[in-house]
Amino acid sequence: MDTMLLTGANRGLGLEWVRQLDQAGWRVLACCRNPAKAAELNAIAAKSKGRVTVHKLDVTHHGQVDKLAHELRDVPIDVLNNNAGVLPTRDRWGETDYHKWQELIWTNLFSTCKVSEAFTPHVAKSRRKIILTMASTLSSVSMPGGGPLVWGDEKHVYRTTKAGINMLAKSMSGYLKPMGIIVVSINPGWANTEMGRQDLEPDQTTDILLDPVVSIRSMRQLIDKLTLNETGNLYKWNGEELPP
Ligand SMILES: NC(=O)c1ccc[n+]([C@@H]2O[C@H](COP(=O)([O-])OP(=O)(O)OC[C@H]3O[C@@H](n4cnc5c(N)ncnc54)[C@H](OP(=O)(O)O)[C@@H]3O)[C@@H](O)[C@H]2O)c1
Repeated sequence: MDTMLLTGANRGLGLEWVRQLDQAGWRVLACCRNPAKAAELNAIAAKSKGRVTVHKLDVTHHGQVDKLAHELRDVPIDVLNNNAGVLPTRDRWGETDYHKWQELIWTNLFSTCKVSEAFTPHVAKSRRKIILTMASTLSSVSMPGGGPLVWGDEKHVYRTTKAGINMLAKSMSGYLKPMGIIVVSINPGWANTEMGRQDLEPDQTTDILLDPVVSIRSMRQLIDKLTLNETGNLYKWNGEELPP
C-alpha cells in the first residue's frame, strides 16, 4: 500500500488530497495543526478502517516535527507532500510588513525544509521515494509581474517564499538523488480554496478558479509518471513545466 504524509490536511487542497487518496486505497498520514477542529478530516479517517490517520503538526514547531518523525520512524513514506502554506494579505510597495514576512518565511520555506529533513529517512526506505513542495505561478522569477496575473508589486512577500521553496526543491533534488529520492515543486493552479478565493478581485467569481478535484487528480497523474530523471523539475498541476 502506498503511503503519503501531507501537511495542512484539514482543508483546501490538503483535504482533497486526503479524499482522493483514501478512495484510491492509500495509507494517508494526514497532519494538521488542530485535529480537534478538523471535522471533515476526522470523518474521512473514521471511515477509512485505519488507512487514514490524523496527526497533530504545526509545521513551524520543529519539536513537533521531530517528535512525529520519531513516532513514525518505522513507517516508509512513498510521498512526502509539503502542502501547508500561508498567503498573506496584499503587500503594497512601501508598506512591507517585515514581521509578517519573517513569519511567512518560517511557515512556507523553513517548515518545508525542516519537514523534508526530518522525514528523508522515511522517504528513503519507501518504494516510490518522492518529496513534493508546493510552488505557485507567483514563484516564477522569469515570468514578469507573476506571469499572466496582474498583481504587480503586491505580492513580493508571498512570491519570495515560494521562489525560495523552488530553490530549496532544486537543492534537495541534488542532495537526495544518490538516495534515489525524487524532489519536484508543483504549482497546484489557482484553485478554489480559502487561499485561492482570497485573491479574487471584487469583479471576479469563483468560476475562474480551478476545481480542487481537478487540481489534485492532475497532480496525482503527474506524480505517477515521475522518475529520477525528473528530479529537480518545476511543474504546473497539469504536468507542464513551470518557468523557473
Ligand atoms: N489555492 C491556490 O490557488 C494555490 C495556488 C498556488 C499555490 N498554492 C499552495 O498550495 C498549498 C495549499 O493551499 P490551499 O489553497 O489548500 O490553502 P488553504 O485552503 O488556505 O489551506 C492552507 C492549509 O495550510 C495549513 N497551514 C497553514 N499554516 C500551517 C502551519 N503553521 N502548520 C500546519 N499547517 C498549516 C492550514 O491549516 P489551518 O486550517 O490550521 O490554518 C490549511 O490546512 C499551499 O502551499 C499554497 O501556497 C495554492
